[in-house]
Amino acid sequence: MRKNIVAGNWKMNNSLNQTKTLIGDLIVELKGVELVNTRVIIAPSFVNLQEAIKGTENNEIEVVAQNMHYAENGAYTGEVSAEMLSSIGIKTVILGHSERRAYFNETDEILTQKVTAALANNLDVIFCFGEQLEDRESENHFNIVEAQLKNVLFELPTNAFKNIILAYEPVWAIGTGKTASADQAQEMHSFIRKTLSEKYNAELAESVSILYGGSVKPNNAEEIFSKPDVDGGLIGGASLKAKDFSAIVKAI
Ligand code: 13P
Repeated sequence: MRKNIVAGNWKMNNSLNQTKTLIGDLIVELKGVELVNTRVIIAPSFVNLQEAIKGTENNEIEVVAQNMHYAENGAYTGEVSAEMLSSIGIKTVILGHSERRAYFNETDEILTQKVTAALANNLDVIFCFGEQLEDRESENHFNIVEAQLKNVLFELPTNAFKNIILAYEPVWAIGTGKTASADQAQEMHSFIRKTLSEKYNAELAESVSILYGGSVKPNNAEEIFSKPDVDGGLIGGASLKAKDFSAIVKAI
């Protein structure tokens, strides 16, 4: 059975002390919460990953990275490799976030290299994708999403999907307070599963967790998560507040 997942993408937020405090507060908020078939994930910045791993040592919160470079090593000033992440105990990396695509020019070609490098280094991938507002307004959103999946993931062998989590994040819903309705999320997630089933097979399509991201808050999480093809969320702003994030975890 595929897992439910609630993941907090902290983006470029939280100093070292704020990281420690937020993790401490989260542990308190989540104490006694029974996580049935559910993973709770946080993605702090690179510089705070080790401290976050230390801070979550004896509980179920997993720490993942927000990004990585595709090269093994070399003259890439300022970059971080898959091996570096593995060496400190990171097991999963977020790739393809729309902010990386928009502000750092990450193309499908670059993302293909990143996904390949992550999997080759035994890192699981949370692969993000989603349409822009104009794509939805022109009713092109299904085509865009299909192309994003096809261009980056569809050369991978079937067994690679054991190590991939999908995160559908419509760009117009990120950080805007505008969320896709639960029905819009379900409609797209079901389309994604159908696309996976056609390209691979039904069993694979049923086994992949598909998260929704984009202004998930305590007041809308339960409705979004109630949809059959929504297996959890990738949370931005609300993951920076222990009470809000834990309320979203409890809504799964
Ligand atoms: P918000 O929850 O702030 O809209 O961000 C979503 C997101 O980008 C998670 O990766």
